[in-house]
Amino acid sequence: MTAAAGKRILLIVGGGIAAYKACELIRLIRKAGMSVRCVLTDGGAQFVTPMTLAALSEQPVHTSLWDLKDEAEMGHIQLSREADLVVVVPATADLLARMAAGIADDLATTLLLATDKPVLAAPAMNVRMWQHAATRRNVERLRADSVTVLDPDEGPMACGEFGPGRLPEPEAILAALQSALKPAFPSSAVEKHISTSLDTNGAIGKHVIVTAGPTHEPIDPVRYIANRSSGKQGFAIAEALVRRGARVTLVSGPVALPTPSGVTRIDVETAGEMAAAVESALPADAAVMVAAVADWRVEPSASKIKKRGSTPELSLTENPDILAGLCGHAQRPKLVIGFAAETDDVVENARLKRTRKGADWIIANDVSGDVMGGTRNRVHLVTADGVEDWDDMPKEQVAALLADRIADALA
Ligand code: CTP
Repeated sequence: MTAAAGKRILLIVGGGIAAYKACELIRLIRKAGMSVRCVLTDGGAQFVTPMTLAALSEQPVHTSLWDLKDEAEMGHIQLSREADLVVVVPATADLLARMAAGIADDLATTLLLATDKPVLAAPAMNVRMWQHAATRRNVERLRADSVTVLDPDEGPMACGEFGPGRLPEPEAILAALQSALKPAFPSSAVEKHISTSLDTNGAIGKHVIVTAGPTHEPIDPVRYIANRSSGKQGFAIAEALVRRGARVTLVSGPVALPTPSGVTRIDVETAGEMAAAVESALPADAAVMVAAVADWRVEPSASKIKKRGSTPELSLTENPDILAGLCGHAQRPKLVIGFAAETDDVVENARLKRTRKGADWIIANDVSGDVMGGTRNRVHLVTADGVEDWDDMPKEQVAALLADRIADALA
């Protein structure tokens, strides 16, 4: 039995060839001690039958919004809310588009709009459909709306093409589903917090500060020193923590990312501003310092530096180390986590960085490839107890695993 045992899953089966894998997922969900009720779209019914899903789930299967018997016995609102998690497998390009637009023209999309529970979607489609600007936009929109959209697997596809678009294996969907169901902080801790410190946002739970993105250090009114950080990993961590019930203050350098829902965001430009924003967000139970803070700044010129045939000398001054400063702070959070972007001797440098800065954990990553700005990450978790090597995975998954570990450490 797993921690998710006893949970109720509402499984929406979309219209794609990968629908047959939903059958295997039902078996795995039940084996993990959870119950599953299925909703089959018209498209899905072209690939699997209601009878198959009913036999595997041992529950009635719902297909139509207009089934009066269902409305009498269980309305669509109730159906969407009595589950602990809504899972869409396979999430086709069409279904993702309708979800992103908030369309409710059949039972599946109506349930998705009516639910007050977390939603997880496992996409499967042709590689070009997955890469199309419209799908990219829809996925980004859904993620910003707090829907967990898994990345599809890469490989040969039923349509004969090769690339990202295959449904993740049922075992991987089960793992994501169990992670989505996991509360970050044990209910007793949350309840204690409700009674003692309901904050002004009405948010409940431990307070976690996350820094993300680059910093920009101005040279003059038009030029600055910067780096390639996109902020994606830090934003994903902020989102994963909020999903687990934490109250998150996200201190972000200049990035082009939407604020994950439920996150309090403070935008800054320079390392100095980031240090001040982190300080102002204290006290906190944990801090995750993901930002790629510029190491140096210059005294900016008030007016634009002109070329005029000579090359200006930039005199660099070291920026304050925000992570080290927080570790030595009188209000040091219980758990302080740093990131170490390295190109050589990744783990050894991270080990040294952990002790030098006084952090509890360091997440080390090799940034010699296209990690900075990319969608995937391969990290090593360096703690006082040793080093754990995590597989190469999407940044959202790194965030989900890290949020689980933070929740365990704060429990
Ligand atoms: N960091 C920080 N303030 C700085 C520099 C870094 O808070 N001025 C934090 C980063 O957010 C990260 C960790 O320290 O969590 C490590 O950052 P990194 O750039 O890898 O380390 P540096 O101290 O800059 O070391 P080096 O550039 O020598 O590798």
